[in-house]
Amino acid sequence: MFYLKYRPKNIEEIDNTRVKNVIKKMLAAPELPHAVLLVGPKGTGKTSTARIFAKAVNCLHPVGGEPCNQCANCLSINTSSSTDVLEMDAASNRGIEEIRNMIKETAFLPMTAKYRVFIIDEAHMITMDGFNALLKTLEEPPATAIFILATTNPEKLPKTIISRCVKINFGKAQKDDILHMFKRIIATEKINFPEEMYTLISTHAEGSFRDAAKILEELAMQKIKTVAEAETFLGISGKNDLLEIVAKGDIKKSLEWINEFSQNAGNFKNLIEDLLDELRLVLLVRKGLAVEDAPQIVLTTNQIVTLIKLLMEAYQNLRTTPIESLPLEIAITEFYNIRNSEVKS
Ligand SMILES: Nc1ncnc2c1ncn2[C@@H]1O[C@H](COP(=O)(O)OP(=O)(O)OP(=O)(O)O)[C@@H](O)[C@H]1O
Ligand SMILES: [Mg+2]
Ligand SMILES: [Zn+2]
Repeated sequence: MFYLKYRPKNIEEIDNTRVKNVIKKMLAAPELPHAVLLVGPKGTGKTSTARIFAKAVNCLHPVGGEPCNQCANCLSINTSSSTDVLEMDAASNRGIEEIRNMIKETAFLPMTAKYRVFIIDEAHMITMDGFNALLKTLEEPPATAIFILATTNPEKLPKTIISRCVKINFGKAQKDDILHMFKRIIATEKINFPEEMYTLISTHAEGSFRDAAKILEELAMQKIKTVAEAETFLGISGKNDLLEIVAKGDIKKSLEWINEFSQNAGNFKNLIEDLLDELRLVLLVRKGLAVEDAPQIVLTTNQIVTLIKLLMEAYQNLRTTPIESLPLEIAITEFYNIRNSEVKS
């Protein structure tokens, strides 16, 4: 799997430029923080960065601040077998007992490393009792202990915990940073996509390095060659076709189109997002707020607004529907009903 094979192993490989720079500065400062909070959406490098940090402070032969990934300390951290770097997944060990056990560990000096690093992943899952126990330790952490908390949901952490940590915001993965990761991957893998393909993937990775790496691997495995093929595979082609049919007012054809899209394993979430993007653009252009090339759609502004509302509802319903195509089918049918009643009245 690309996303595991190319997981960053040293600071230079952290493709999130901003985070890379923050980590570099932090490690170069005269004093290391004893509690760090990594905040960011899924697949943005929190766990990877926590491990790199642990290696950087404990590496036996660091080179210019970078962990060597070859010494006994680096190797044991890479295989999660270090006795000095303890990882706890709070999603499955969220109780007071688990936290207490970890806190007990802080009393011991490191065995082979300089610091004992305690990585608490999914930290927002810790229980109230757990947080309270942890708080005391964070107030006066032993000199050789470093806590690294990682979370996707900082709003679920008590303020008292947050205020004792140095916070690093990861944010969504930026397109340029994702392209940087792709460069790292294709330097080793035999992948020769046209340049636009990488841009396409980076826009459809929803701000996640992990998703981007997964899509890249999928497209390579499927031996996809062109952007058009990739768009079909990802279910992002055809929005214009559908809009055209809908504008013509042919309900049977519209539903047939959706059915075929579904048969081809098209992605409805992407499709609806693209439809909304497109309709919004048409609206903005009509109101003189954008100068881009909008598609010619023979719908009135009112009809477009109605369609946008219905599609937004369909988008919401995607999460709960037992049949993926259903929300869009309902939205389109409803749209025709409203349109027909307009014509009659
Ligand atoms: N900054 C990054 N640079 C390069 N690749 C990255 C980066 N962040 C994440 N990745 C890729 O995404 C994968 C997942 O990263 P990681 O587990 O560190 O993310 P995470 O933020 O902890 O995600 P989650 O919230 O889902 O646990 C990595 O194996 C790697 O392939
Ligand atoms: Mg993680
Ligand atoms: Zn090392």
